[in-house]
Amino acid sequence: MCGIVGFVGRKQAAPILLAGLEHLEYRGYDSAGVAVIDNGSLDVYKTKGRLQILSDMIGGGKILPGTIGIGHTRWATHGKPSDDNSHPHKSSSGRFAIVHNGIIENYGPLKAELEKKGVAFASETDTEVVAQLLDAYYDGDTFSTLVKVIETIEGSFALGILNRDNPHEIYAVRRSSPLIVGLSEDGNFIASDIPAVLPFTRTIYHLNDNEIVRLTEDTVEIFDTARRPIVREKEKVDWDVSAAEKGGYPHFMIKEIMEQPEALSKTIAPRITHDGSITLDGVQLTKEQLAALTHIHIVACGSAYHVGVVGKYVIEELTRIPVTADLASEFRYQNPIVDAHTLVIIISQSGETADTLAALREAKQRGATVLSIVNVVGSSIANESDNVLYTWAGPEISVATTKAYSTQLAMIYLIALYIAGQTGKISKEAFSSLLTKISALPEQVASILKLAPQLEQLAQRYAYLEHAYFLGRNLDYAVAMEASLKLKEISYIHSEAYAAGELKHGTISLIEEGTFVVALACCERLIPKTLSNIKEVKARGAEVLLVTVENCQLADEQADEVDHMIRIPQTNELLMPSLEVIPCQLLGYYIAKARDCDIDKPRNLAKSVTVE
Ligand code: F6R
Repeated sequence: MCGIVGFVGRKQAAPILLAGLEHLEYRGYDSAGVAVIDNGSLDVYKTKGRLQILSDMIGGGKILPGTIGIGHTRWATHGKPSDDNSHPHKSSSGRFAIVHNGIIENYGPLKAELEKKGVAFASETDTEVVAQLLDAYYDGDTFSTLVKVIETIEGSFALGILNRDNPHEIYAVRRSSPLIVGLSEDGNFIASDIPAVLPFTRTIYHLNDNEIVRLTEDTVEIFDTARRPIVREKEKVDWDVSAAEKGGYPHFMIKEIMEQPEALSKTIAPRITHDGSITLDGVQLTKEQLAALTHIHIVACGSAYHVGVVGKYVIEELTRIPVTADLASEFRYQNPIVDAHTLVIIISQSGETADTLAALREAKQRGATVLSIVNVVGSSIANESDNVLYTWAGPEISVATTKAYSTQLAMIYLIALYIAGQTGKISKEAFSSLLTKISALPEQVASILKLAPQLEQLAQRYAYLEHAYFLGRNLDYAVAMEASLKLKEISYIHSEAYAAGELKHGTISLIEEGTFVVALACCERLIPKTLSNIKEVKARGAEVLLVTVENCQLADEQADEVDHMIRIPQTNELLMPSLEVIPCQLLGYYIAKARDCDIDKPRNLAKSVTVE
């Protein structure tokens, strides 16, 4: 995800572009840049890092004259965050500058072809291919050149284009990436999202796929690819900026919860090949290395560690290799037993967590093979790992993780199944069946998200409790740990997760009349056992919410033990964590909302924990 803006009008462009980008930083913030045309010269200013660095570099935009320009805030996908990889990208002739949001899927062969013809690339990005193609196809007419380019490229894009030879117009086009047009007395705009133009105008057009727009300071023309004009109704925006950045949701957390089906698809789909096998880009482990593994450690902090706990169950079950889930802060000081036959899987959304990074270094130093699951491209953990698998969750703004957790889980399933396949520990049929179920997860998650109103209602009932206990066995226990953390970190309710069979060894003394217990029972073969534990807490007065699968049959007396029940669809037992965590995230969110907590920025917490 990236953010693009463009402005052509009667005012200085650069300050307007910076103001627009400020409202798009939620789409990415690892580098930023602008290009402006002034006096026949097309100049690009760009830098790695937050928008503020760019702003300081160009004096808040004031030092750049010129009333036409484009801007970009980046979330790296192809090529690490660096000055060279930042947008805008210029074509070799210097005629074109472009900004892009999306992914050009066939950039590899296109780049190779252009290089063969002598084109020198200045970046590692997929985007630069578009700039170079504009040069290569240029026939003196930007419109027809652009049509040829979009007929050649595959993937998703919203593009903003400046041509130095036509210094009074911006072209833009989209396919499967968002793009809107803003209209004002002072000039016209393009942007990835409405908040970027709201400081200047509330009058907009939405663009559809494959529509090309040409902006000048006084005109906005929309065409189809055959240059037929398209008439579009103007729209008036009546939301405020902060609601618009959150896509109309009150908090980033709920927006990110709702984005999970898309984030999962983006993480899973590219790893499944047409012939039904798994391809792990960024992993160089050979069959022989995998077969020689004697132990796997999964090392992480917080929610990422909870993914590791799921990973222990799943990887052991599928590969029969012993797995330990380790807290990074403990692993680094425990003299870990790792050697060349150990695989250390590091999990981190930010890729900057200090303890996780230190654990990675410790593992490498001891000769282990390291494989990292990271969301932020070019982060320290990604840079220092020999093998990196990116979760394609996009930027996660809310401090409490949701979509990163879900995509990390998906990566764990793919890794487990990949190792099982490569080492011959699973039959072809079982492999295909599980892979089909992994690809169905995004749709199943989408169906569970429809339970949001029901959970919001339940949350009203539990919002003012002081304590909560989450119980489950095996994988249900692993999810209970995450569910409990989610609730406590954003609602400030004291909460603990217990292996359901363990509670009676001490902690059950805390259960009294009205204590809130959430029982997770989605692991079918263990449901009767967990139901017995529900009986134990119910007998001591607990108020029980049961999260279970659709076809769980409860006898009348069992149903009587449960105060509320949430049923979710079923999949293979090993994949159930991806589904059962969703109602738990929603419950935590709605309880915190009912308590009027600062959900996206809970007290004492930071998104990236770069201290020990
Ligand atoms: C909880 C949460 C944290 C992180 C932990 C690790 O909602 O987000 O527990 O999971 O701080 O962070 P990363 O994944 O960036 O290493």
